[in-house]
Amino acid sequence: MKQYEIKINLQEYQSVEDFTDEEQTVIKSALETKDKAYAKYSHFKVGAAVLLENGEIITGNNQENAAFPSGLCAERVALFYANAQFPDVPISLLVVAAGQNDVLTYEPATPCGACRQVMLETELRFDKPIKIIMVGQNKIFVLNSVKELLPLSFNPDLLSE
Ligand code: THU
Repeated sequence: MKQYEIKINLQEYQSVEDFTDEEQTVIKSALETKDKAYAKYSHFKVGAAVLLENGEIITGNNQENAAFPSGLCAERVALFYANAQFPDVPISLLVVAAGQNDVLTYEPATPCGACRQVMLETELRFDKPIKIIMVGQNKIFVLNSVKELLPLSFNPDLLSE
């Protein structure tokens, strides 16, 4: 038996001011779009803002539905819209923020498994790492690639010889 320990590189920052002006703009977009989420059932609002390599910022928030599985997470709303509108433009940054009653979560919200898989596909599709910033009141997490967020991911391209 072999045992492996998988490490990820996660950075923690204290303040939005630690980021570049452009990144701060994307962070602001994620915070603003969070409050526009349609979270009638969970009351948990999530905002995602995506920065494309051409400078465009696309935002998305969670959209819930009375038939629960029909809803969609903020990250996928933003990513699918970005990829639908700009199919040839890589994504360089994704910012996530979440909260309840217009109050940002204390800890940074981290994307669900399904969103991680979609984020990974986007990263692989353009062969460009996507930086991920997750914003909480208390701290801000940063990952430099989706690969950090989803070790041992499903990637059929790597399974065939
Ligand atoms: N949600 C997101 O938008 N992103 C995630 O990464 C996790 C969860 C949404 C789905 C649902 O509308 C609400 O948060 C509560 O789970």
